[in-house]
Amino acid sequence: MTVRSCEGDGFQRRLVRAMQFTDLEAVVAIERETFTLPWSLAVFSGQLGRPGGIALVCEVDGETVAYLVADMFVDVWHLMNLSVREDCRRRHIASELLESYFSITELRSHRGHTLEVRASNTGAIDLYRSFGFVTTGVRPGYYSDDHEDAVIMWKDWEGETA
Ligand SMILES: CC(C)(COP(=O)(O)OP(=O)(O)OC[C@H]1O[C@@H](n2cnc3c(N)ncnc32)[C@H](O)[C@@H]1OP(=O)(O)O)[C@@H](O)C(=O)NCCC(=O)NCCS
Repeated sequence: MTVRSCEGDGFQRRLVRAMQFTDLEAVVAIERETFTLPWSLAVFSGQLGRPGGIALVCEVDGETVAYLVADMFVDVWHLMNLSVREDCRRRHIASELLESYFSITELRSHRGHTLEVRASNTGAIDLYRSFGFVTTGVRPGYYSDDHEDAVIMWKDWEGETA
């Protein structure tokens, strides 16, 4: 697969859309470059097949460079995965994915949103805070590779309950 860079001043057409099975090669490549405990192709495929779940990608000039995966459990949305290819970061791509995610989740009544993030991942924590998430707890030693703590974050639903 030929991969173009996000760097440079050329025209960049950006599109957030639903993830398709044809995105999975690029998604899994980004996942493996990003995380020490990456999701497998089978896990992404399973998520894509789940009715009611959310799987979005951002493409830049036709190339899949970022993704977000979330699912509703009981009445809470779980933001399960968010990643932007390294050369495409700090261009507000994650912010666009999160904005799309919140506009989709607004359509259905729920209590709020939760996620877990590595305690050392201050960039992601800052991003989530800017979207209204607050820290509500810590899961000590949550990550199986290095036993780093997970920070639990929460955001109340701002819509009207039924
Ligand atoms: C965290 C991540 C998703 C952010 O994606 P991104 O597209 O670069 O984020 P955005 O450009 O939308 O950032 C919006 C704001 O969030 C904050 N932010 C994002 N990344 C940051 C970083 N590394 N350090 C500090 N602040 C950061 C900033 O306030 C930023 O605004 P600014 O660039 O105008 O200062 C990306 O760095 C990534 O994929 N990291 C590896 C995977 C990961 O950590 N995922 C989250 C796991 S829960």
